[in-house]
Amino acid sequence: QEKALLDRYGRRATDLRISLIDKCNLRCTYCMPADGLPWLAKEQLLTLEEVTRIVRVGVRDLGIRELRLTGGEPMVRKDLVDIIAAIRSEHPDLPISMTTNGVGLDTKAQALKDAGLTRINVSLDTLHAEVFAELTRRDHFPRVLAGIDAALAVGLTPVKINAVLMRGVNDHEAGPLLRWALERGLELRFIEHMPLDADKKWVRDGLVTAAEIREQLSEEFHLKVSPEHRNGAPAERFIVTDASGQKLGTVGIIASVTEPFCADCTRTRITAEGKIMSCLFSSDEIELRDVLRSGADDAALAQRWKDAMWIKPRAHGADEGIARDEFVRPDRSMSAIGG
Ligand code: GTP
Ligand code: 5AD
Ligand code: SF4
Repeated sequence: QEKALLDRYGRRATDLRISLIDKCNLRCTYCMPADGLPWLAKEQLLTLEEVTRIVRVGVRDLGIRELRLTGGEPMVRKDLVDIIAAIRSEHPDLPISMTTNGVGLDTKAQALKDAGLTRINVSLDTLHAEVFAELTRRDHFPRVLAGIDAALAVGLTPVKINAVLMRGVNDHEAGPLLRWALERGLELRFIEHMPLDADKKWVRDGLVTAAEIREQLSEEFHLKVSPEHRNGAPAERFIVTDASGQKLGTVGIIASVTEPFCADCTRTRITAEGKIMSCLFSSDEIELRDVLRSGADDAALAQRWKDAMWIKPRAHGADEGIARDEFVRPDRSMSAIGG
């Protein structure tokens, strides 16, 4: 039997995303409700030992080649540095990345790097403190900027920046954000707003699409699709040049809704309370924590994981599906999945 997480459509999951905590210190409107959500109790969260065991089985027995830590906000987890160090000590060559909102990164970046974190993606949607406060419902703009500087300084690189453009809020910031990112050697990615906001206010017509973003950027920059193979990555990458053909850097666009990449998906997810999600939008969540806490051996754990991935849906249907009323909106909002 093959040591791999396969599904019925021939895909192979090699990228593991583990959410370490559901809590967050921001309240981005596209992700969480203003009052937060009922948080998981501490004993519901996977422990350091459980997380390291999942990674061990994934890497040793199931063909996992990359790990990403997510949340909520992973830095809210008190033993984050210990978790990274524990994983790193068992897997010297595993790429370990983290997706974070950057709050507190200014003081934690060095410890994260020392523990063995490879690189970091920071969410930042705007260059204006007031817009940041409107989008995230918190006043932490300067802290995020300081966090990004610290990540660069300690070498958690390449540092990627994730920006979600929202109609009427920050939809004119594509150009300025890219200019800002290029000046600092950051790889900016624009993400289409997905129907995973907790308030369920997402509407297809309000979407700032990848096509629109490319158009906005073309007013100031020349974009050429990167020749590098995409390998199932969510982001389509472009080489950015100025009018004279001088290369300025790269930019990515994650067109989850209008140009879905489900057919090449390489991801498997574990939620903070230890459920396997075969897809970001999947409504079938398969319990893994029970297996972890039942005294079952690693083979049983691997089998549960394989079974869960086998039934991964073909695609999310968030584009045509919505038009045909076929898209089933998951109950979870983004913060409870980890993105
Ligand atoms: P890199 O390896 O740095 O490119 O990471 P990444 O882009 O996979 O990770 P990140 O956590 O920064 O995610 C960026 C955006 O891509 C988030 O909005 C994710 O929800 C989205 N994304 C990641 N994986 C998937 C996926 O499997 N399906 C969909 N629809 N979106 C995804
Ligand atoms: N649609 C698209 N991206 C989202 N993110 C959070 N919620 C959404 C959503 N509804 C992004 C965050 C973070 C990444 C993990 O997911 O900005 O960068
Ligand atoms: Fe927190 Fe990230 Fe969700 Fe914003 S998008 S509320 S930073 S988990």
